Amino acid sequence: MQFREIMCGIVGYTGERRACPVIIKGLQRLEYRGYDSAGVAVCQENGALNVYKCKGKVSDLERHLEGKDSSGTIGIGHTRWATHGEPNDVNAHPHLSRSGNLALIHNGIIENFRVLRDALRSHGFTFRSSTDSEVLVNLIEFVRESENCSLEDAVRIALKQVVGAYAIALIEKGNTTRIVAARKSSPMAIGIGDGEYFLSSDAASIIDYTQSFVYLKDGEVAVIEKGKPLHITNLEGREAPVSIQKLNLSISQLEKGGFDHFMLKEIHEQPDTLGDCIRGRVIPETREIVLSGVLENKERFLKARRIIFVACGTSWHAALIGEHLIENMCRIPVEVEYASEFRYRDPIIYPDDVIIAVSQSGETADTLAAVEIARSAGAFVYGICNVVGSSIARGTDSGTYIHVGPEIGVASTKAFTGQVTVMTMLALLVGRLKGTVDSGYYHRVAQAVLELPSTIRKALETAGQVAALARTFTYAHNFIYLGRGYNYPTALEGALKLKEISYIHAEGLPAAEMKHGPIALIDAEMPTVAIATLDATYEKTLSNIEEIKARGGKIIAVVSDGDELVRRSADYCIEVPSTVECLMPLVSIIPLQLLAYYIATYKGRNVDQPRNLAKSVTVE
Ligand code: AGP
Ligand code: GLU
Repeated sequence: MQFREIMCGIVGYTGERRACPVIIKGLQRLEYRGYDSAGVAVCQENGALNVYKCKGKVSDLERHLEGKDSSGTIGIGHTRWATHGEPNDVNAHPHLSRSGNLALIHNGIIENFRVLRDALRSHGFTFRSSTDSEVLVNLIEFVRESENCSLEDAVRIALKQVVGAYAIALIEKGNTTRIVAARKSSPMAIGIGDGEYFLSSDAASIIDYTQSFVYLKDGEVAVIEKGKPLHITNLEGREAPVSIQKLNLSISQLEKGGFDHFMLKEIHEQPDTLGDCIRGRVIPETREIVLSGVLENKERFLKARRIIFVACGTSWHAALIGEHLIENMCRIPVEVEYASEFRYRDPIIYPDDVIIAVSQSGETADTLAAVEIARSAGAFVYGICNVVGSSIARGTDSGTYIHVGPEIGVASTKAFTGQVTVMTMLALLVGRLKGTVDSGYYHRVAQAVLELPSTIRKALETAGQVAALARTFTYAHNFIYLGRGYNYPTALEGALKLKEISYIHAEGLPAAEMKHGPIALIDAEMPTVAIATLDATYEKTLSNIEEIKARGGKIIAVVSDGDELVRRSADYCIEVPSTVECLMPLVSIIPLQLLAYYIATYKGRNVDQPRNLAKSVTVE
């Protein structure tokens, strides 16, 4: 059983024990997932509903609980990975409904929360937080009051109005036995104990108490009541079967969702994380792109004299793809700058420049400094970050979060594909607004973006072949990666992946550059990875492969499904599915991420924490 991570963690309990210690321990087990705040709600024996929550770590929550009444044998707890509303005490979960009678915790993203919030406001609701989750708990309360129905009926009715991903749990004032839970796209496991139930977004957090679990399916609602059988229905109220499964994974395996390393888990969860990144931003029915950060600042993009990307490392590689996307679709000149170079060069910045800062962590010192320089020069600064409320995100005028959840592995994988996907949507939208992209192409690419989760899932099917192939190359001391056009940055990224986790030197090059010097390096000891998928420069890349082969070089080629030509020269061909050319980096990078992972693993490297590296380079 492999879990897919959606943002952060949920734990619940109803039984005979004190709920709070069970919940805190469960949240601690989920800390590895990365989060920014934590909270717990418990219902005392007298029916009082108490909520304790704060920005920071679970240990901060424990200090916050000192001296407070956290008694009660029923409760829910949450570690938050902010998507809507920056990390602070108010935005932390659990959220109370307007009456204070309901407490809710939520993993996921409610895409249509603005529409729902406006509707609730028209009925007099006000909101303390900026989160989508607080809207949901009030929608449930509104339905319950309007329909005068049970809590589980109100949950079912409310969730039918929700667009997005959720794993939720609710408890209510005065009820000391019942939790109502539901899920769609975000995992939810119910632990079955002896006269007690446990709830978690990841079985790892409750494996201390039970090995028997029921996994809620998408669209299911569970009524979890001490001393009663589990009751599960779909959103229409129809009974769903309760199938209990035994779990036999170790805690450490569970923490990685059944994978050996976070990096491998994050590579494999890219179909899902790209689904989260795209959700609500490409409207399936119309294939229209909706990026609020762009739409609210469209004049800035429409009159932009040029666009300058500032970034580091993998984010800089993503920006190189962004350069192709924006120049091709928007006909706006683009420059891509290493943030560390940009900040010290006294750069020329015009007030009608648009600076796009790309950063997974949102804390990279060089990129933050570049943002500050751009802001002080009067340019409009747009952020493409993963961590909500991070320093870079807060330092920009606007932006788009990539919504891929916490990236734990130091080597960036799902953040890279999330960044490139956001850049694709941005280029499409700005091109549409400028009229520089024709409607047919726009809708064709938008459709291909919608299909990305399944396209990437198919590319991941190369994992077995790549794992076997990697064994052949653990001896290598150097690698060359080649690509052209959209896939030149992919070659750079593939090389960086290999060198930073296997410690094998690898260099990415534009394929045409080989004859300007690097081909002198080629011999039987210098393998080359060539990205030779079907695109405008396919024949040229084929010639480069033949030149290398003629000099005794070993070649691993990433090719399009069914390719017959490259395999005549390459030693190994990894076939990936085809999609529109501008999205091919998202597909070609998959086997390169896997190749780096498996070579590093076979070399016994610390894949998740490679030597000398940090996940976020907050020093200069
Ligand atoms: C990528 O695998 C590396 N971990 C590193 O290059 C990283 O991309 C770079 O430090 C930038 O980090 P950021 O995206 O968080 O700003
Ligand atoms: N979207 C919710 C929020 O931003 C939940 C995020 C999460 O999954 O932790 O609070």
